[in-house]
Amino acid sequence: MAGLRGRDLLSLAEFSSKEVDLILKTSLMLARQKRPRQSLRGRTIAMIFQKPSTRTRASLETAVNQLGGHGMYLSWNEMQLGRGETIADTARVLDRYVDVIAARVFAHATLQELAEHAKAPVVNLLSDGYHPCQTLADLLTLLQYKRRLRGSKLAYVGDGNNVCNSLMIGCAKTGVNISVACPDGYRPAEEADRLARKAAAESGATLEITDDPEVAVKGSDAVYTDTFVSMGMENEKEKRLRTFLPMYQVNSSLFSLAKPGAIFMHCLPAHRGEEVTGDVLDGSRSVVWDQAENRLHTAKALLSLIL
Ligand code: CP
Ligand code: NVA
Repeated sequence: MAGLRGRDLLSLAEFSSKEVDLILKTSLMLARQKRPRQSLRGRTIAMIFQKPSTRTRASLETAVNQLGGHGMYLSWNEMQLGRGETIADTARVLDRYVDVIAARVFAHATLQELAEHAKAPVVNLLSDGYHPCQTLADLLTLLQYKRRLRGSKLAYVGDGNNVCNSLMIGCAKTGVNISVACPDGYRPAEEADRLARKAAAESGATLEITDDPEVAVKGSDAVYTDTFVSMGMENEKEKRLRTFLPMYQVNSSLFSLAKPGAIFMHCLPAHRGEEVTGDVLDGSRSVVWDQAENRLHTAKALLSLIL
């Protein structure tokens, strides 16, 4: 394995299955360490946010701090970016100061442009296309609860969005059989589908996309959902709720089709009564707080490996 030093993380497709395994193993090790090695001492991570965040910002800043580095929060609208300075120029300038450029943006192309013009590794903290840091935490959670990834079945129900796109790739790479249920018109991106199918062919995992949530959930080890209305789509809220409800809501009746010991997963923030009912989200088989915690452990692992 060539190693992860200096590498970008944009969708998760850029990492091999061995590299994903290494990040997960390193995360498990770092999760056990009270005082980890200060591998980021003297290093600065720029964190650009064009959209709100609770978990991503807080976990990344904490991760950098615990490893002895400095996380620099930069709000898009308080940068010259907000006044029209180009992405390329911003990348060239930040590159002279910092060791990693992490960014949460609207358009995935913004990240690709940052990566093109910066020598420093660029990390996607969520774009309209992908959310790979979330997937790393999700895979770690699945591993902790199910003991192994290969051969487990995960059902994703709802919007075939950024979270779903990276999750499909991550599952396919690690041998998790994934079944996605979404309405017509809300299927995962074609590019993600292609990348995930390529990875599945290599790992032997299966990838199914259906419009029937019952088909997807049946016999699964984990049921995953995300908001029906992602950030920036608020103007489509009513139309989306009409499309997704009631069929694509994860409630106790749909969840009961999964295996008896199945876990419920959600990247959060959750909308009780929309994509999931309160009894499932707050129920004993929900692992959403562990997923949120795992954002911290996987962020530490990722940073310590790419730097
Ligand atoms: N799951 C996630 O990315 O949450 P935030 O939007 O709070 O960062
Ligand atoms: N799909 C959601 C994920 C939030 C973490 C969004 O993009 O808003």
